[in-house]
Parts: sequence; structure tokens; C-alpha cells
Amino acid sequence: MALRRLLGQRGVHYFGRYLRCASLHNTSQVYGGGGQLFVHRDSPENNPDTPFEFSGDNLKRVEAILKNYPEGHKAAAVIPVLDLAQRQHGWLPISAMNSVAKLLNLSRMRVYEVATFYTMFNRSPIGKFHLQVCTTTPCMLCDSTSIVETIKSKLNIDVGETSADGLFTLTEVECLGACVNAPMVQINDDYYEDLTVKDTEFILDEFKAGRKPKAGPYNGRCAAEPIKELSSLTEPPTGPGFGVRSDL
Ligand code: FES
Repeated sequence: MALRRLLGQRGVHYFGRYLRCASLHNTSQVYGGGGQLFVHRDSPENNPDTPFEFSGDNLKRVEAILKNYPEGHKAAAVIPVLDLAQRQHGWLPISAMNSVAKLLNLSRMRVYEVATFYTMFNRSPIGKFHLQVCTTTPCMLCDSTSIVETIKSKLNIDVGETSADGLFTLTEVECLGACVNAPMVQINDDYYEDLTVKDTEFILDEFKAGRKPKAGPYNGRCAAEPIKELSSLTEPPTGPGFGVRSDL
């Protein structure tokens, strides 16, 4: 009653809707984007003594990356070098971050700030295939909920968990910039788009069988082309000078 007096009938209605939405999307609120804790806590597999050293080949890649940045601005290489560390190790332990800090002559905290901000960095071990399901509004309106539920039930895992065979980790993420092909899932470096429940099951089965299913849209269209006939930009394009004053 006190809440009703404070907010009014309409206020209570919207507060209730907010709470329902919050419980649907609590992953990014409780954890960092991508479902990871913002803070680092030492664990047996992730602590400053976790073995990590760049391989010879990757050290050469680091040198090449550093050449992209002018003197005095090498700190800008932190993201590609962290990415390289993650690709080498499979995920990004704190010892790898420390190694990147040393290599780039940065304070460790500067590297931690970057690694905890960007969801592309996995600061705990993940499966061989990282399933990142977008559940932001356009994907949600195209039924990403069914995609999440299909993955959960087929792999018997919850969001943030890894399957018992160590193959799949499921993460719920915010918009991945492929809204026009919603609903979609990023699996490692590839986008799987325009998905149905059946497509999702097929893709998981293929990965389980050791095959790589084709990436991209699954509804027959190429990239983000219209699913039906063109509805705009149907006339021939106007040439240079169109609409420009004749006296110019
Ligand atoms: S909302 Fe899912 S990719 Fe943008």
C-alpha cells in the first residue's frame, strides 16, 4: 500500500514491468557484460602464477602490432595484444594481463581496466565453442528467448556455464551489431544469423560431430539483403551533380 501511495497506480504498473524486465536480463547487472564477474578473485586456475608466456611466433606478431602505433602511443596496442594472448591461451588469465602490461610498459591496472570492460575478453576458462547469444531488444523481438532455451536444454547448461564435455560455453550478450539478421548467435569468430530453433539444433549437432557449419544467415538470404523484393532504392541512382545549383 505504501508503494501504491508513493508511486500511484500508474507508477506501480511501470515499477512492476521494470522488475519483470530486470529479472529477464539480470546477467549484465549482476555480472559484467558477457556474464563474468567484474572483479578478479584468485583461483587455482587463474592467479598471478598461472603459467603464461607469449610464444616466439606471437612475440613477432606483437612486434608487428606495435609498429602500427607511433612512438609514445604504444599503449593503444593493448586490445590487439590482449586478444593475441587470449587466442594463444584459450582465455585470459590475470598472468597474461600482467605479461601484456610488462610488454607494453603499462601499469597492470591500465590493462585490467581494458580487460574487464570489453566482453570479448574471457577472464575465466571457456569451452572450445563460445556461444554468445544476443538478447537485446531486436533479437528478443525475433525470439532469441527460444534460441537461449534451445541451447540450454540441448546442452544441459545454464547461461554462464560450460557443457560437461568442455565443448560449449553459453553467454548472454548485448547487441552484436547484426540486428537486421536477428536472432543471432556469435560462435567463436563467426556470426550465425536469422536462426530458428531447428537451425540452432542443427548448428550444435554439427559442432558436436566435429564439423563446422556454415556461418551467416540461415533463412536463405545473402548477408543482410531484403528477405522479399526491394521496397526502397528501386530507381536508378542519380548521377554526380544531382540537386546541385546550376550556377555553381
Ligand atoms: S539486437 Fe541482436 S544483434 Fe543487435
